[in-house]
Amino acid sequence: MEVKIFNDAQEIAVAAAELFTDIINNKNDAVLGLATGATPVPTYEKLIEAYEQGKVSFKDVRTFNLDEYCDLPKDDKNSYYTFMHENLFNKVDIKEENVNFLDGNVEDWEQESKRYADAMAAVGGIDIQLLGIGTNGHIGFNEPADAFTDESFKVTLTQSTIDSNQKYFGEVPMPRYALTMGIGSIMRAKKILLIATGASKAEAIKGMIKGGVTPKLPASVLNEHSDVIVMLDKEAASLL
Ligand code: GLP
Repeated sequence: MEVKIFNDAQEIAVAAAELFTDIINNKNDAVLGLATGATPVPTYEKLIEAYEQGKVSFKDVRTFNLDEYCDLPKDDKNSYYTFMHENLFNKVDIKEENVNFLDGNVEDWEQESKRYADAMAAVGGIDIQLLGIGTNGHIGFNEPADAFTDESFKVTLTQSTIDSNQKYFGEVPMPRYALTMGIGSIMRAKKILLIATGASKAEAIKGMIKGGVTPKLPASVLNEHSDVIVMLDKEAASLL
């Protein structure tokens, strides 16, 4: 795990977008694993800038998002499908048919998990997976648990995640369930970039880097991957 500490979120965004741009420019049909949340937004802004300046094209890029809420229409303003379109896809030249999401409204999530795993395998797997981290150490929506998961599954969100994410839903109660890539799906990515900013992430980052590998802090599994870059601002790195 290579840990890089930056002055602020903007510096991380520049470095993260450069890494993605290099990967896409080396492989025009790169397969990107993408994340939602506030943390990756500045990186997506830098990628849009690079696209507008002609430094990168998403014309042949394929994407797989980490997770999606259950019981929320795909085009709800709070779905991750909408989030990704508003924050990246609508602003670059990616083709809609190359954009992949878990469908949080299926009846049979196990069948949906298999569909997603097969779709990832069919394009040769994820070249680079972008991750944020929850304050409880979750990645995607892999919440603290007794064992690591493998392929995508339906998760009951923890109170800590609901407390962190309810703000995006305002007065409307947020969903209690989500479909998420499992730890195995994430770990099969060829390269992983985890970014974390702000003091609220410092405890989870300390646990991830110094606490040993445990499903009680899901991000700690990244210590077992051979190609992980962690980009932190000073606040997120403050307990290291
Ligand atoms: C959400 C997402 C995660 C994300 C995390 C942190 O629950 N499912 O993929 O990493 O929360 O979000 P933020 O970046 O807003 O702190």
